[in-house]
Amino acid sequence: MSSESVIETQELTKIYYGRAAVENLSFSVYAGEIFGFLGPNGAGKTTTLLMLLGLTEPTNGSARVLGMDPAREPIKVKSVIGYLQENMGFYSDLNARQMLQFIADLNDIKADNAKERITAALQTVGLAEEQDKKIAAYSRGMRQRLGIAELLIKDSKVAFLDEPTLGLDPDGTNRMIELIQSLCRDKKMTILLSSHMLHQVQKICHRIGIMIKGRMVAQGHMDQLAEEKFGVGKEQYTLEEIYMKYFQEA
Ligand SMILES: Nc1ncnc2c1ncn2[C@@H]1O[C@H](COP(=O)(O)OP(=O)(O)OP(=O)(O)O)[C@@H](O)[C@H]1O
Ligand SMILES: [Mg+2]
Repeated sequence: MSSESVIETQELTKIYYGRAAVENLSFSVYAGEIFGFLGPNGAGKTTTLLMLLGLTEPTNGSARVLGMDPAREPIKVKSVIGYLQENMGFYSDLNARQMLQFIADLNDIKADNAKERITAALQTVGLAEEQDKKIAAYSRGMRQRLGIAELLIKDSKVAFLDEPTLGLDPDGTNRMIELIQSLCRDKKMTILLSSHMLHQVQKICHRIGIMIKGRMVAQGHMDQLAEEKFGVGKEQYTLEEIYMKYFQEA
C-alpha cells in the first residue's frame, strides 16, 4: 500500500433544502487500500459517493479522484470509476455475457479483448455456469456479483461499493467479501466500501471512516480509533464496539 491519495475531499458540503446532508467533509483514501466508509442510515455516505462520481454537485468544498475534479470532469471520472450502486437495477432481458458485452462496447474495448475479459470476469465472480440465464431471473447475490464483473470489464482502478452485501445470505456475504478482498489484492483496486456489516468490514478494511450526521467523526486504522476512544491498553475491541462508542458520543 502506498500513501498516495486516490480520493481526497476538502470541506465537501451538500445542502438539500437548507439541511446539510454532508458537512465540511475532509478525508483521503490511499492507493491500494480498502477504506470502510461507515455511518448510520442518513449519515450522508451515498450523497458523498454521488459527489465523488460527479453525479451531484457539491454546495461547497472540493473533491479529487485520481487527480480529477468530479464536478468539472464528471464523464471522465465516471468512466474510470467502478460504481456498485446501493440498489442495482438489472431487470434485464439480456444474459450475463450479453450485459458484459454491452459494458465492453460502451467502454470501447475491442472484440477479441472483450471476449477474453468477459470469460475471465464471469469465472472470477462465479457466474460462468449461469452466463446464459437472463439477468431478470438472477438472485440478488448473482446480480451483485455481476456488478463486480462490470468493474472487472472496465478494469477500474478505483471502485465505490455502496452496501454490496445488502440483502445477501451468509454464504453470499462471505463470497462477496472474499471477492472484494481479491479485487484489492489481485487487481490492485482502491476500494471505498460503504457497509453496515461491521463484522465483515473489520475483516477486510485497512482504514475506517465513521460519518455521523454529515460529518466524519473519525478516520484511521481501527487500532488508532480504538485508542482514541478507549485509551491505550491490551484489550482488543471489535469494530462494532468502536463504532457504537463514536455513535453514542456524537
Ligand atoms: N435527493 C435528495 N433530496 C433531498 N434530500 C436528500 C436527497 N438525497 C439524500 N438526502 C438526504 O440527505 C441525507 C443523507 O442521505 P444519504 O442517502 O447520503 O445517507 P446514507 O449515509 O447513504 O444512508 P443509508 O445508510 O441509509 O444508505 C438524508 O437525510 C437524506 O434524506
Ligand atoms: Mg446510502
